[in-house]
Amino acid sequence: GRRFLLAPSLLSANPLSVEASIARLGGEEDWLHVDVMDGHFVPNLTYGPGFVRALRARYPDAFLDVHLMVQPPEDFVDSFAEAGADLLTVHGEATPHLHRLLGRIREKGCAAGVSLNPGTPVEWIAPVLHLADLVLLMSVNPGFGGQKFLPEVLEKVTALCRRRAVRGESFLVEMDGGLGPDNVDLVVSAGCQVVVAGSAVFGAPDPAETLRRMRHSGEA
Ligand code: DX5
Ligand code: ZN
Repeated sequence: GRRFLLAPSLLSANPLSVEASIARLGGEEDWLHVDVMDGHFVPNLTYGPGFVRALRARYPDAFLDVHLMVQPPEDFVDSFAEAGADLLTVHGEATPHLHRLLGRIREKGCAAGVSLNPGTPVEWIAPVLHLADLVLLMSVNPGFGGQKFLPEVLEKVTALCRRRAVRGESFLVEMDGGLGPDNVDLVVSAGCQVVVAGSAVFGAPDPAETLRRMRHSGEA
């Protein structure tokens, strides 16, 4: 079967009971996806570094996948790294200094990810792919959970995977937005190694069972 990682997004968890929401994942998660929004790069507000610090203290062994939807990301990379993020993903659209920034993220001891909105072509990040540990392709316009998957993003996965093979690069491809048991198979067969899901997991009566269903479907 095809191997991939599941990264439930805490954006869809009840903010008054995040600990209980994480417990309901039943350990079926691989990463915890943390959506940081600044009301500027995206039209919504979520967490600061204090939330990541609290997660790190409570879950020392968790892999914290921090998706920075902020502009400019250089203002926040150090504080989220020091708070305990494992992976820091910045948007290619949010900075004119992507090359320097990916280097900075690695210097701070984190894995470096670069993300693209649905309307941004993969060519935009071609010059920095050798500096990236992960490419996060948005399959909705970022800002909110519970939106519909945009299938046009699948072409980007195919293009990135082809390029990666030709050049011998090793970044992971992650997809985020509108994913769940019904379409995980589609994106994993297109080449994704990390699948984010928010509302499909935390909106389900049994989040752990939903993750198991996603794993079976994607690995088939
Ligand atoms: C959207 C966020 C996503 C969001 C996904 O801006 O980056 O991580 O939580 O939520 P669903 O899975 O509900 O589309
Ligand atoms: Zn996200």
